[in-house]
Amino acid sequence: SAAEKGGWSSFMAKEISEEPEAVANTILGRVVDGQAVLPELEGLDGMLAGIDRVIVIACGTASYSGLVGKYAIEKWARVPVEVELSHEFRYREPVLNERTLVVSISQSGETMDTLMAVKYAIANGARTLSICNTQGATIARESDAVVYTHAGPEVAVASTKAFVAQITALYLFGLHLARVRGTLDAETSAHQLAELQGIPAKIEQVLGNGEEITQLAKWMSDSRAVLFLGRHVGYPIALEGALKLKELAYIHAEGFAAGELKHGPIALIEPGQPVFVIVPSPRDPNSLHAKVVSNIQEIRARGARILAIAEEGDVAVLPFADEVIRIPLAAPLFEPLLTVIPLQLFAMELATAKGLDVDQPRNLAKSVTVE
Ligand code: AGP
Repeated sequence: SAAEKGGWSSFMAKEISEEPEAVANTILGRVVDGQAVLPELEGLDGMLAGIDRVIVIACGTASYSGLVGKYAIEKWARVPVEVELSHEFRYREPVLNERTLVVSISQSGETMDTLMAVKYAIANGARTLSICNTQGATIARESDAVVYTHAGPEVAVASTKAFVAQITALYLFGLHLARVRGTLDAETSAHQLAELQGIPAKIEQVLGNGEEITQLAKWMSDSRAVLFLGRHVGYPIALEGALKLKELAYIHAEGFAAGELKHGPIALIEPGQPVFVIVPSPRDPNSLHAKVVSNIQEIRARGARILAIAEEGDVAVLPFADEVIRIPLAAPLFEPLLTVIPLQLFAMELATAKGLDVDQPRNLAKSVTVE
């Protein structure tokens, strides 16, 4: 009903507006003296110090949060992290033992593919942790431990606030793990947490520029195919931007790792092809910014229409971009929590411009409880 949507045109619009809160609530009570402390993992320090591998299992949007989490967990906790789709995981006889931590990520906590994968992991001797948004869900109950995302109920089929809450929970987990394993000094860890705590206000800023995305979506409502490019943590965001557009606007969309362009996808570029490019910060210590700007030049020369998502003050993209969507400055690992917002808004607004139901896209269910 209109009342349940709290004045918003859709649950999706309402849930996007709740993203700052979703991140803040997921952090709440989990920072003690500048360190990440997940009370729900109390008593598990020995296990966490002893694992030699993390395997993240999830489907769809939840799997992309896992891909983002991989960059942070490996960097901070120095433990190898694999991310796998739940339905692929359990049919390939993965190598598991008591030193493997299988982290499942699920908004609903009822996704059959993920539940079966968790059961498989338990039966084969792995330890299990669930990152879940729904209190008391089946996957949470099956797992050794659960870290809840506190995004609040998500009604729209397309996941938005749960996604940013999942990344937040994974980052808290990564810092908790790093503390237990002694791989990160307290000062660096406190610095990362301060960055995380600054994210809700920055998401608020991105949401404040929503009107330009609405305009862009209207102009682009007859697009036949849209490509998304990203690198490092921007890569999973490219995948998520493409998934959102497929789900909501029924437009063919693909996300690519920018470095992969010349290995194939660049053949797709023809005059007028819209390409969203998630541009890493020019302050990135890996200097990926210059590489992505050079990708932009390559595809622009072949006629691509560039829609750049770039940090405030990044002027290097200006000569090559048809549109620049600005995000506030953040440390590189935290950019996904900001760059995903315009892509969610874009998919929602484009679907709206096409007259589609953004809360209930065709052929999809909120929770996939069958295999
Ligand atoms: C997200 O927009 C999708 N509808 C879908 O990919 C979803 O994220 C996936 O089915 C996983 O659901 P879960 O988080 O409830 O397990």
